[in-house]
Amino acid sequence: MYDAARRQDAPIAIMTKKTPTSAATGAAANALWGGRFAAGPAAVMQEINASIDFDRRLYRQDLAGSRAHCRMLVAQKIISAEDGAAILRGLDEIEHQIDSGTFVFAAALEDIHLNIEARLKERIGDAAGRLHTARSRNDQVATDFRLWVRDAIDGLTTSIIALQRALLAKAEAHVDTVLPGYTHLQAAQPVTFGHHLLAYAEMLDRDRSRFADCRKRLNESPLGAAALAGTSFPIDRHQTAAALGFERPMANSMDAVSARDFAAEFLSVCAISGVHLSRLAEEITIWMSPAFGFIALSDAFSTGSSIMPQKRNPDAAELIRAKAGRMIGDLATLLIALKGLALTYAKDMQEDKEPVFDAADTLHLGLTAMAGMIGDMTVNATAMRAAAERGFMTATDLADWLVRRLGLPFRRAHEVAGRLVRVAETKGCDLAALSLADMQAVESGITREVYDVITIERAVASRTSYGGTAPARVREAIAAFKERLP
Ligand code: ARG
Repeated sequence: MYDAARRQDAPIAIMTKKTPTSAATGAAANALWGGRFAAGPAAVMQEINASIDFDRRLYRQDLAGSRAHCRMLVAQKIISAEDGAAILRGLDEIEHQIDSGTFVFAAALEDIHLNIEARLKERIGDAAGRLHTARSRNDQVATDFRLWVRDAIDGLTTSIIALQRALLAKAEAHVDTVLPGYTHLQAAQPVTFGHHLLAYAEMLDRDRSRFADCRKRLNESPLGAAALAGTSFPIDRHQTAAALGFERPMANSMDAVSARDFAAEFLSVCAISGVHLSRLAEEITIWMSPAFGFIALSDAFSTGSSIMPQKRNPDAAELIRAKAGRMIGDLATLLIALKGLALTYAKDMQEDKEPVFDAADTLHLGLTAMAGMIGDMTVNATAMRAAAERGFMTATDLADWLVRRLGLPFRRAHEVAGRLVRVAETKGCDLAALSLADMQAVESGITREVYDVITIERAVASRTSYGGTAPARVREAIAAFKERLP
C-alpha cells in the first residue's frame, strides 16, 4: 500500500556526482547492453539519463513483476526450475537489502530495473541473465508503474475516507449550528454548518469514485508485450497478469508499452481532489479570519508571526490551497510529455514518474493535514449565529410567505421583501425586529403570522426538500453517508 512515510524509501547510498559536462564517467560500456558499445557515457549523459534517484520507489513493484515473470518462465519451461529458484532467492535477498537500507543504488546503472538486475547477477551469477528472457524494460516499467499507481490509489482512498469521517463527525456535532450560506461571498440564506461540511464529504466521495474508476481501467497487464511487438517465446501472459492481480493482459503489445493515460487519469483525479481541498482550505482561512471569527485552530494546527504577537495563521490551509497548483502542474507536465510521442516507447516517458509521485505525495499530505484541521477546529456558534442575523437572509422566506399566504406573484413578493429590507437597513435592525406596523406600511396584507417564517431557525428548519439544509434532513444525510462509507 502507498505510504507517505516511505516517500524516501529505505536509506540509500548513491548517486549522481556533479562532474564537468565534457568528461566521460570513466565507466566501461554498460554490462547490460555493452555488446555494441566500446566506451561509457559522458558524465552529463549519465546525469540526464539516470532515473534511479526517483524510480527506486518502484522497487517493490519491480520485484513483484520479476517474480511473476520468473515463475511463468519456469512453468512454460522457458528457463529451468533451478535457475528459476536461484532468481527468486536472489530477488528476496535484494528486497531485504533495499528494505533495510543496505542496497547501494548506482547512477551508472541508470534505473531501478538495471540496478536490481545487476545486483541479481552479483548474487546468483549467470542465471540472473535468464530473467530478462521474453521481457524488455519497456513492458517491465509499464507494469511496475501500473502496480505503483494501483497501490497509490488504494492508499489515497483510505486517506479520503479518513477525511470524510472527520467531516462527518464535525458535521454531526453541528447539525443545528447556523451560519450564513453565501453566494458571491455575500450572505445569501442561512444554512447549518453540518450541511456545509457535508458538501465537502460529497465532493470527496466523487473523488473516491473517480479513483475507483481509474483503478478499474488501469488494471490490465502490459507484461509480456516485451519491447513493443510481443515475443516468439511461448509465454503465458494470462498467468503473469493473474499473479499480479491484473484483470487481464493488455490486448495490444504496442499499446501496452506506450500507454500512460492511466497515469494521466490518476493525475487528473489528484488535481480535481486537490482543487476540492483547496476550496475547503480557502473557507478555513476565511472562517478563521478575525473579521469572521467562525472557527479557531489550536496551537497544533496554527502558526504564529515572528513580528506580530497577536497573529495566529492557518498555514496548513494556505499550503493546501497552493498545493492544488502543484497537482494541476503535475497533470500538465505529463500530458505535455506525452502529446507528441509516436508509438511506441520513447525516453520522454521516463519523465512520467516524478509528477505522479509528487501528486500522490502532495494529495496524501493535503488529505491528512485537512483531516487534522477539521478534527482540531473549534466552532464559534455564537459568531456564526450573529453573522447569520446580519444579512437579512430571511428575505427569501418573507417573499415566499407573501406568495403562499397573500397569493402575490413571486416578482411582486420579491419587491415587497426588498422594500422591507431597506426599511430594516435604515432602522439598523433585522427583518424579524420590524414591527407589524412597519410591515403593513409596505404591504397592508401582512399579518403577525409572518414572524413565524422570518427567524433564522425557522428559515433553516423549513428547508426540508431532499438535500436541503434543515437539521432533520442533515441528520438523515449523515446517517446515509455513514452507511455508504466502507
Ligand atoms: N527507466 C526507463 C523509464 O522509466 C525504463 C525503460 C527504458 N526503456 C528503454 N527502451 N530505454 O522509462
